Amino acid sequence: MDVDAKKWVLLGTGGTIAGTADVASDNLRYCAAQLSVQALWQALPGGPERRPEGAGPWVLEQVAQVDSKDMDFAVWAVLAQRCQQHLADPGVGGIVITHGTDTLEETAWFLHCVLDTHKPVVLTCAMRPASALAPDGPQNLRDAVAVAIAPGACGVLVVCAGEIHGARAVQKVHPYRLHAFSSGDAGPLGWVEEGQVRLSQNWPLAQSHHALVAIKKIVDGVPWPRVDIVMNYAGASAAMVAALVHSGVQGLVVAATGNGTLHYALQEALERAQAGGVAVRVATRCPLGQMLPHPGDMLPDAQGLSPVKARVSLLLELLAAQT
Ligand code: SIN
Repeated sequence: MDVDAKKWVLLGTGGTIAGTADVASDNLRYCAAQLSVQALWQALPGGPERRPEGAGPWVLEQVAQVDSKDMDFAVWAVLAQRCQQHLADPGVGGIVITHGTDTLEETAWFLHCVLDTHKPVVLTCAMRPASALAPDGPQNLRDAVAVAIAPGACGVLVVCAGEIHGARAVQKVHPYRLHAFSSGDAGPLGWVEEGQVRLSQNWPLAQSHHALVAIKKIVDGVPWPRVDIVMNYAGASAAMVAALVHSGVQGLVVAATGNGTLHYALQEALERAQAGGVAVRVATRCPLGQMLPHPGDMLPDAQGLSPVKARVSLLLELLAAQT
């Protein structure tokens, strides 16, 4: 691909990558989502005029400015629509998105599900604020740009600490270290080394049918359903499920123990909720591997998704089913 012939898009949503602290040595007491996406671009190593080799003109857009713990459906709706519009432009080669680390995997899975594209959409982030003595954001952004313009890059990807992850497997696994993301058993899709992409797996596959219907509903402003997550643990009871059903929840994902096991009281409550019309999915709270469902299970499994991603998929499924 002649990357210089293309236009590229950088969307800012906030996060620690755009955060600042009063004291450069303080990587804890800082405010996320302070610097504009233009400022992040200016701070790229070597200056913005020394973009990674081959990158054509970049369009910068501030889509949101949030700490990603506060990520919500309104920002997701705008972000998906801005991506959809840019990706539909034949002149656009791909998109990079700056995002907070805390809910990055949820946004990545959401975009993977709703964007019908073979172009790359690369999310990146930072664990240290931009004002840190040694910030990781500029290198991560530079690496994300290198992935976006890499020949053949496609699908929704996450780039952090020199690793490239697919939207399905990636999880934040560490609250502090720079190497905060992992794809567990699947391993990273590849690495970025001195601006060069080295792949260990294929680029990711396309999204589900439900989700493509759901994006139309999002664009039309159809209200999002309520889907919550409950967890199995020693001493779990029916109380949480009963309260959620009482408050009108439409979907429930349970973060089950081990291979989908549930305390009998929670199991009964979930089966009652399902019989009453609540959509229920079972995911495992184990961070590695995936559940192997038993034939005849009363509650459907989440097809290998983590609890937070199973929630995103169930949201989209229920949204698509709304009339
Ligand atoms: C956030 O998720 O927006 C703050 C934390 C981070 O980006 O590491």
